Amino acid sequence: MRMVDIITKKRDGGTLTEEEIRFFVANYVSGNIPDYQASAWAMAVYFQGMNDSETAALTRAMIDSGECVDLSSINGIKVDKHSTGGVGDTTTLVLAPLVASLGVPVAKMSGRGLGFTGGTLDKLESIPGFHVELPIGTFMNLVKRSGIAVIGQTGDLVPADKKLYALRDVSGSVESIPLIASSIMSKKIAAGADAIVLEVTTGTGAFMKDEASAVRLAETMVRIGTQVGRRTMAVITDMSQPLGFAIGNALEIKEAIDTLRDAGPSDLKELVLTLGSLMVCAAGKADDPASARHLLLESIESGRAFSKFRSFIADQGGDVSFVDHPEKLPQAAHQIDFLAPKSGFITGLAADQIGLAAMLLGAGRAMKTSTIDYAAGIVLHKKIGDTVKQGEPILTLHTNQNNGEAVREKLHAAVKIGEQAAAHRLIHRIIEE
Ligand code: URA
Ligand code: CA
Repeated sequence: MRMVDIITKKRDGGTLTEEEIRFFVANYVSGNIPDYQASAWAMAVYFQGMNDSETAALTRAMIDSGECVDLSSINGIKVDKHSTGGVGDTTTLVLAPLVASLGVPVAKMSGRGLGFTGGTLDKLESIPGFHVELPIGTFMNLVKRSGIAVIGQTGDLVPADKKLYALRDVSGSVESIPLIASSIMSKKIAAGADAIVLEVTTGTGAFMKDEASAVRLAETMVRIGTQVGRRTMAVITDMSQPLGFAIGNALEIKEAIDTLRDAGPSDLKELVLTLGSLMVCAAGKADDPASARHLLLESIESGRAFSKFRSFIADQGGDVSFVDHPEKLPQAAHQIDFLAPKSGFITGLAADQIGLAAMLLGAGRAMKTSTIDYAAGIVLHKKIGDTVKQGEPILTLHTNQNNGEAVREKLHAAVKIGEQAAAHRLIHRIIEE
């Protein structure tokens, strides 16, 4: 078999066999196929697409390039959650302890962020002492004992994706539905869960800018999961404005604590209840989403969800005095308000521009090697649909740098105020096989 024949077959619109796909993945990972052939192949897929069996074959071949986590020694149905990403995405920090408080085992591998803010791991590390690099045995024991652990992805999980994603990133083939779907699903399947709940975001702050592409990506991932025997569901959500109020690392830890104490933003709560209901049902802890939702609300109101968060932080070495007193978390030296230039309704809060502003203030990484300022970020005081009076603060910038005022000036294009409330919906739809 020759790689050049596989490239030209795809370039000309052919369908690749499982054998051809396996040949490419195995030889690319072992270094026999050079980057220039792999990038030509990825570009051919970008233009020609792949059908469901090719996409499933690619996913299986990528999974087989590394090791899989075996969660079978943990009792119960393990349900994982994944989001295609957004701005101020505090979801996992609330959802993981919340579903764990209902006895759903949470054995989660999370990521670091490159972009707007840190990822879930970075946010958790803003609590002094918290460890994310645990040996797999310790991770498994924590899940068995306490029902929850969150760690970084181990190096030997799907090496093919690591190599291919880095190549796509610098050669213009990230935005391909079969490549994104196989990249995400290979990692989720290798991480060992029995069932997978996906959040596919759409809007300015998301990978998929329009709803139709988000739905196609979600349907593709649901079919891959089903083909390999993992129950998979997807929720299409809006990411045209940031999620919740806080965008940052320590700022989002505080927001997660507020939400677990039932004093957080309503959109974050609604999202967590929607995703949580699907997870609780998939884990067999409730018969239908309505009763699952009832159980989740009860856990928040009774304080059980919050105490699960607290014990989870303590179990991984975090100093719980920061959970009990979030005002002890790192605070930025400068807080700069963005005031409403006129009165009216908030009709737009461009998530991508606000996310970029948070990064410029120090909350995210511009490069893999950049360090994160846990205190930096943005707190919104208004969301789309709210009324605002001229001179009222719409958001506050938190930074330790001296660029706060320059960053604030860039936000004029991101904030839209109109005379009528714009229609706006967080949960677009739920997709199941
Ligand atoms: N996220 C991933 O993990 N993979 C992609 O290809 C795109 C987004
Ligand atoms: Ca948030």
